[in-house]
Amino acid sequence: MSNFDVPSLMVALREHPVPLSHMIQLRDVIFEQTGRSNFLFAACRDGEADGSTLADPELAEALSGVALGQWPMGVSAIDSWAAAVLERKPAAVLEFGSGVSTVVSAVLMRRIHGTGAVRVFSVEQGEEAAAQTRARLEALGLNDLVAIHIAPVERTLVDAFDSSGYAVTAEQMGSFLGDVRPEMVLIDGPFGGYGARFSTLPVAHPWLAEDAEIWMDDALRDSELAIAHWWTVLGYLSEPSLQFTAKGIVRGQRGDSPRHYAQAAAGLGRGELQGGEAEYVLFKMRVQAAADASTGLKPPFQAR
Ligand SMILES: C[S@@+](CC[C@H](N)C(=O)[O-])C[C@H]1O[C@@H](n2cnc3c(N)ncnc32)[C@H](O)[C@@H]1O
Repeated sequence: MSNFDVPSLMVALREHPVPLSHMIQLRDVIFEQTGRSNFLFAACRDGEADGSTLADPELAEALSGVALGQWPMGVSAIDSWAAAVLERKPAAVLEFGSGVSTVVSAVLMRRIHGTGAVRVFSVEQGEEAAAQTRARLEALGLNDLVAIHIAPVERTLVDAFDSSGYAVTAEQMGSFLGDVRPEMVLIDGPFGGYGARFSTLPVAHPWLAEDAEIWMDDALRDSELAIAHWWTVLGYLSEPSLQFTAKGIVRGQRGDSPRHYAQAAAGLGRGELQGGEAEYVLFKMRVQAAADASTGLKPPFQAR
C-alpha cells in the first residue's frame, strides 16, 4: 500500500474488476489504519450526474433531467448493466429495489424482445417507491413489461440465518416468477440496516437460470462486501468480482449447490451430534470468529 493511495487505485481499477477477496483485504487494511468503516464507499464513490450523460442514447433521453448516483444507481453502473443486458439478451431479469434501474431494464428488454410479456420482475419494499416507479414506466409506455412485488422490510429467516430483509419467502418468490427463470439479477435493495440485502439471493436462488449472472450495487459498503462474502462461503454465489466504479458493483455467477443448515440448526442440542450438525457447529464457529474479530467485516446475519 505504501506506493499507491486509494483514489489512484480506484481510477486504475474502474474498468478492471478484481476478485472480491482482494477488495475485502484492501477494506480491512484501510480499516486497521483509519478505524473508518465504509471508507471505500464514502471516499471513492462517484458523484451524482444527470441521466442525459448515459452512454446509451435511448436511456439518456428517457432519463434526461434525472439525477443518478445518490438513491438510484450511478451512471457508470447503469452503463455497465445496460451493456451486459444488451450482450446477454436475457428473457427476463429480476431486481431487488425499484426505481431508475427498473426503467433501464424495461427499455432494454423492449428493445431486445418488443412488448407483450413481463420481462422485468422487481421486488420493492414500499408502496410509495413502487408508485413512483410505475409512473415513470407509464410515461414511457413500459408498464406491461414490468411486475412489481411489494415486500416490506422485516426481521427475516432464510435457512438458519436471521437478518433484516424483504418479507418474501422462497415460495412467494416462486409464485411471483411463475415459470420464468431470470438469467440476470440486479440487487439494489432494500434500503435498510447492515445485512438487509443478505436474504435476497437465497430466496431467489431456486428460481434462477442455472447460469444466472448476479449483480449487486453499493458494493463498496461494508454491508454489501460482507453479504457477497458470505453468499460465496455458503455457495449461493460463485466467482465474485468487484468493479470499483460508481458505488461499486459485485458481479458473479449463481452458485450451483448452496449449503443448507436449517435442519442441522434445528437438530442442535437434541441429543448426539450427527455429521451435518457437527459441520454446522464448525460453520457457526467461523461466523462467531468473524463477529469477534475487531477489524474484519461483521457477518450480515445471526446464525441460529
Ligand atoms: C437503492 S434504492 C433502489 C434504487 C433503484 N434500483 C434505482 O436505480 O433507482 C433502494 C430502495 O430505497 C428506497 N428509496 C428510493 N429512493 C428513496 C429516497 N429518495 N428516499 C428514501 N428511500 C428511497 C426504495 O424503496 C428503493 O427500492
